[in-house]
Amino acid sequence: MKDVVVLVGTGSIGQATARRVGAGKHVVLGDLKLEAAQAAAEIFDGAGFEVSTIAVDISSHESILKLVEHAQQFGSVKNLICAAGVSPSQAPVAAILRVDLYGTAVLLEEFGKVIADGGSGVVISSQSGHRLGALTEEQNFQLATTPTEELLDLPFIKAITDSLKAYQYSKRCNSLRVAGQATPWGKRGATINSISPGIIITPLAADELKGPRGEGYRNMLKSSPAGRAGTPDEVGDLAEFLMSSRGRFISGADFLIDGGTTASYWFGDLQYLKATH
Ligand SMILES: NC(=O)c1ccc[n+]([C@@H]2O[C@H](COP(=O)([O-])OP(=O)(O)OC[C@H]3O[C@@H](n4cnc5c(N)ncnc54)[C@H](O)[C@@H]3O)[C@@H](O)[C@H]2O)c1
Repeated sequence: MKDVVVLVGTGSIGQATARRVGAGKHVVLGDLKLEAAQAAAEIFDGAGFEVSTIAVDISSHESILKLVEHAQQFGSVKNLICAAGVSPSQAPVAAILRVDLYGTAVLLEEFGKVIADGGSGVVISSQSGHRLGALTEEQNFQLATTPTEELLDLPFIKAITDSLKAYQYSKRCNSLRVAGQATPWGKRGATINSISPGIIITPLAADELKGPRGEGYRNMLKSSPAGRAGTPDEVGDLAEFLMSSRGRFISGADFLIDGGTTASYWFGDLQYLKATH
């Protein structure tokens, strides 16, 4: 039996992260599209990783339970990487909430029941979660702790009609959920954190850059403090640190990695964007 790394969402950010923590372990590659997981498996296999693939839909609780069962047959789950998600240009409100908000919450809860002592997890959230103004203390509490099956029935979540808002709330919920899960994960000797990337060049970002909000994104990049988009490897490096022995005192936290874009949005040259969000 081996230590197991579970990656859900085998896009570029997920792959970059799993490669950094997967050596010598069994890497489970799960994705809604089995062919995406298989394409990733070919690359991983060719680079010396031991892998298996599974089709998983994180919007289904049952599918997540099957993923947990699949992972456990190879050993104990040492790392969870959730890099599955749909963006505002790819999906309607209900699908964004079901995958990004509810699905991530179920994944954290179910893997929080089996994560190994000394284990760690990261959820890829987004800078979009930092574009919402402050929620009330009660809303924060509800997003962090409401039982997963009741999350989508919260009145302020049910009231969302705009896909960008659905994405922003989902990503805010990811970081709050991680904070809520730090206690159960901690009781098992494990840490759980979220990473909120800015625009990272991947197929998902390419859709956004070409989508209805594309021009805005391109201008935002030009005027941001870093003046460029990020790369999946930069996100992977941060995730590697959080999941390494050096990150053991870090749990329940969210890390922005956006080249200063959020800071500029609230306080700098990108304040003009507030009118459009
Ligand atoms: N690329 C960016 O600029 C950027 C910025 C901030 C946050 N993110 C977040 O990073 C994560 C990874 O995105 P990426 O850029 O690598 O995109 P990607 O599209 O390459 O990867 C996302 C993967 O998630 C899978 N997926 C979608 N719905 C699923 C479901 N219901 N169950 C299981 N898998 C599902 C897709 O099939 C895809 O392979 C997403 O959560 C995204 O919101 C991306």
